[in-house]
Amino acid sequence: VEMQRNKLDDRMELFGTADTSSIKDNLCAVFHKAIGAAYPDIVDPPVIVTTSSNPKFGDYQCNSAMPLAQQLSSFGKSTKQTPRDVAKEIMSKLKVFSVVEKYEIAGAGFINVYLKREFGQSVLRSWLWAGQVLPPYVKKKRVIVDFSSPNIAKEMHVGHLRSTIIGDSIARLLEYLGHDVLRLNHVGDWGTQFGMLIAHLRDKFPNYLTHAPPIQDLQTFYKESKTRFDEDKEFKKRAYECVVKLQAFEPDITKAWKMICDVSRQEFEKVYARLDIKLIERGESFYQRHMESIVAELELKNMLEEDNGRKVMWGEKHGSGIPLTIVKSDGGFTYDTSDMAAIKHRVEQERADWLIYVTDAGQSLHFQMLESCAKRAGILKSFHRMDHVGFGVVLGEDKKKFKTRSGDTVKLSELLDEGLKRALQKLKEKERDKVLSKDQLKAAQESVAYGCIKYADLLHNRNHEYVFSFDKMLEDKGNTAVYLLYALTRIRSIARTANITKDELRQRLHEIPISLEHEKEWKLAKVLLKFPDIILGINEDLYLHPLCEFCYEISCAFMEFYDKCYCVEKNQSGEIVKVNIGRLLLAEATALVLEKCFSLLGLKPVAQM
Ligand code: ARG
Repeated sequence: VEMQRNKLDDRMELFGTADTSSIKDNLCAVFHKAIGAAYPDIVDPPVIVTTSSNPKFGDYQCNSAMPLAQQLSSFGKSTKQTPRDVAKEIMSKLKVFSVVEKYEIAGAGFINVYLKREFGQSVLRSWLWAGQVLPPYVKKKRVIVDFSSPNIAKEMHVGHLRSTIIGDSIARLLEYLGHDVLRLNHVGDWGTQFGMLIAHLRDKFPNYLTHAPPIQDLQTFYKESKTRFDEDKEFKKRAYECVVKLQAFEPDITKAWKMICDVSRQEFEKVYARLDIKLIERGESFYQRHMESIVAELELKNMLEEDNGRKVMWGEKHGSGIPLTIVKSDGGFTYDTSDMAAIKHRVEQERADWLIYVTDAGQSLHFQMLESCAKRAGILKSFHRMDHVGFGVVLGEDKKKFKTRSGDTVKLSELLDEGLKRALQKLKEKERDKVLSKDQLKAAQESVAYGCIKYADLLHNRNHEYVFSFDKMLEDKGNTAVYLLYALTRIRSIARTANITKDELRQRLHEIPISLEHEKEWKLAKVLLKFPDIILGINEDLYLHPLCEFCYEISCAFMEFYDKCYCVEKNQSGEIVKVNIGRLLLAEATALVLEKCFSLLGLKPVAQM
């Protein structure tokens, strides 16, 4: 942070202006300088800048005077300074800054900051000129986002849906910021259960090597083999033999395993295609050899402990948490082993410096232990960043765990089908089927269906459980995908009504200033200017709901603006008599920001809906 600030200081010194990306960072730099000049004796003074909650208090606020006054009085200076005095002192050191219209002291010692309209205009103009909202600057990293990660032969359930949606959005955001992102699907495709699946396959379809077995219904197949495994000692023995042969990569057994995996894979891929999710499958099986060597390595380093026949590993603080089970008593590997092998591979082979795992919050202890053990083993160094992005469970409308009426887990493909059905109903209710062509209607239906499912998930603080309700997510009022998608098409249609293309608008940028005079225009622009800070916040904490709240804030500010400010004036017979280009530019900037937010959230806007 300190280095970043110094860099900003230099830039301001050089250019007399600031980097336009983060208003907060820029203001921090300005206040840091002023506070340093006012109180050179204080090492590392508190620099606190926030957005103002109320327009009465300006656009941003510096709240440093209060803690500074306290710090000063603890030094036992003879002349006691009140926070207001301190604020005055800081004010006197503030330099003219191109971003700021004025500073003012308020209340106990807050310094309110008012942004300059010209600054707003220059930022919006740069976006309009580029034809897109440019990403703020961050230090680039090699990031691995491990998400979705369903298990073969088991149903991909709503928990995996959450991981898929959240992980995809995080990856989109990091890619936008320019990080080098590797999206990995850590599929559960290895382990003891494959022994019984393969043994059963071989018994039931002895000529499986030449004739593809009909095992589309893997669920039933899994249940059958499990029953045999539990009841038939002979079968159990053969199942174990199959595991051993599988782990030794014996060809026929490997082929059987592949057949089973392919059935699941086809299902997963259908879901990914529908939701437009891109990721690389690199399941647990990939790490078999790596597991063998990590066990040897840990053994050599004396980091494994005997525990009832198992070999376990404690993290940096011995005795806290639960140790990882690295080798089971039967000699087999576990989920923990594959994660230890994977983390080493990701850091050392993939050269990742940032590791992100997206799973349900129930696994948070697992990832804490993994991080701690990886540090202890010297795999993770202090410069590596590791995040477990946890999330709460999905509930049904009865507030109980999301299940079908018969109590089964909900099939994802059926859930998406239901979404499509309900989205079409909604569009028909609004009589959109009467105005849209068949293709347009289909595009709108998919946009609404998949958009609303994703958005409803991302809108909630991911730590919390949330209630899955098609009725709620398909409402066209309030903070829903439907409302926002409509808002964007409406904004886009303004220029269309005025018969002005995007390119023409862009050309007019030189002659006509973006209109920010009216109170509602300026209010909307100031919301848009928050975009870089929202994005940088997510780069820090990986919470996406502020981006959803931001989208809603934009559309509300836009509606207020549109209500008060004419963009296109028509006479009584409906002919256009005046087009306000300055306002169309503001509308276009709004559309650019909304569009960017949508693409980060994985929503696909359509031209007509
Ligand atoms: N397959 C696991 C599950 O369904 C998730 C895997 C997450 N990734 C990891 N590296 N452990 O819960």
